[in-house]
Formats: sequence, structure tokens, C-alpha cells
Amino acid sequence: MTETKIQLQHVVKAYGDNVVLKDINFEIQAGEFISFVGQSGGGKTTLLRLIAGLEATNSGDIIIAGQQLQGQNQVARVMFQDARLLPWMTVVDNLTFGSKDAQEKQRALALLERVELGEKADAYPSSLSGGQQQRVALARALMSDPEILLLDEPLGALDALTRLKMQQLVADIVAESNLTTILITHDVREGVLLADRVVAVKDGDLGLIVAGQRHQTDRLAIDQTIDDVQNFILAESE
Ligand SMILES: Nc1ncnc2c1ncn2[C@@H]1O[C@H](COP(=O)(O)OP(=O)(O)OP(=O)(O)O)[C@@H](O)[C@H]1O
Ligand SMILES: [Mg+2]
Repeated sequence: MTETKIQLQHVVKAYGDNVVLKDINFEIQAGEFISFVGQSGGGKTTLLRLIAGLEATNSGDIIIAGQQLQGQNQVARVMFQDARLLPWMTVVDNLTFGSKDAQEKQRALALLERVELGEKADAYPSSLSGGQQQRVALARALMSDPEILLLDEPLGALDALTRLKMQQLVADIVAESNLTTILITHDVREGVLLADRVVAVKDGDLGLIVAGQRHQTDRLAIDQTIDDVQNFILAESE
């Protein structure tokens, strides 16, 4: 039986007169991978921040595993476009925040192995490539064993090849841990390939929701979905 992990009920968010999210109603099941795509300024990051509990709604409810969200979402972790590592700490200390706890350190090292950076544990962030820094950020996000992973364009700054590899790593880790995941991406192809469902966020609304191709290999179906989503995003709003 599937469990509803995230429920958005009549969620409204405004900054002053600027109504960013109009009336969002949406449910995400446990273990589901959702992609948010859409034009700049459409409200994607705002929606993610609300789910993370980093910001409060003006009205409406966010329900996490049946419980109304209040304050920060303790079972969610966010990963951003920039890795946001602490430059004065080694890679492993960026995961443990310098904790001397042996178990904590063990876990950090295991996660670094998982993102194929075991040998960089004692290096400083400045000596890592952008892709490596993002892998550290991913490992750090997993340290608390979150149930929900919120990804705000985490691969946006990477070159195409590194990006492809990172996509696979994210997909594998999410599947292994049965994480409920939301990925914001400007790359519609990436959104379609990784997700169970793709949501086009437009003018403060969830305009189009289509099946993603997470478990599919049918190239025609994939290309058709990408076309549909792109056309929807690019169409003039009324
Ligand atoms: N802290 C804030 N204060 C005031 N306005 C904000 C704030 N954060 C976002 N906004 C406004 O909300 C709207 C949506 O912004 P948001 O960052 O959610 O868009 P986005 O879809 O993530 O865009 P992008 O693809 O460029 O990242 C924009 O008009 C933005 O100016
Ligand atoms: Mg954004």
C-alpha cells in the first residue's frame, strides 16, 4: 500500500502584492520522484522552501505523512545549485560538522564512499571540482537519513557529461533509499527521465502534470513527453 507523504492543500504564498503561488493542491506518495519544471520566476523554489518549512504559507496546509507541518521539516533535506560547503572544514567534517563521534564519522565516510569520494575525505572543498562538491553536498544531505529529498537545480552548474553521471547517481541513491524526491530543473529532458511525474509550474499554478519516464526506456514516449512539457511551458499564458 502506498503512503501519502506530502499533501499540499490550498497553498497560497504571496510576497506583498506579488501572489507567487495561487492555490496549490497536490499529493506526493512515499517513494515518488517528482520533477518541477517551468519558467524562471514561476514559483518553483518558493514551493520547495514551503515544503522544507523554511518559509510559511499565507494560507493553506502542508501535511507531511499525515501531520501538519509546523516550522522546519525535520524529515526533509534540501540541496541547492551551489554546494554551500564550509571552506574551513575538510570534506568529512562538512558532513559531521566536526563531530568527534566515531559512529557519525563512520557514517560520513560510508556516504562519501557511496558518492565515490572516499579518497577526498580529508581534502578541503576548494580542492574539489564543481561536480565533486555537489557529490559532497548530496552525501551531506543524506547524513540525517532524510525521508524527503528536495533538490533545487543541484546539477544546473555542471558540464553535460558530469551532469549525466550525477543524474544516474541521484537516481540510484533515491531508489536505494526509497526517498520521496522533488527535483527542480530547467532541463526538461532531465526532469522527464528521472521522474515518476513531471509538474510544469506556471504563473503560480501547477499547470500540467504528466507521467515521467523513470521506469521507461521507450524513446518515442520519452521524446513525446519532453515535447509536450516544453510546448506547455513555452505557450503564452492567457
Ligand atoms: N524572499 C522573497 N521576497 C520577495 N519576493 C520573492 C522572494 N522569493 C521569491 N520571490 C518572488 O517570487 C516569485 C517566484 O520566485 P521563485 O524563486 O519561487 O521562482 P522559480 O520558479 O524558482 O524561478 P527560477 O527558475 O528562476 O529559480 C518571483 O517573482 C520572485 O521575485
Ligand atoms: Mg528557483
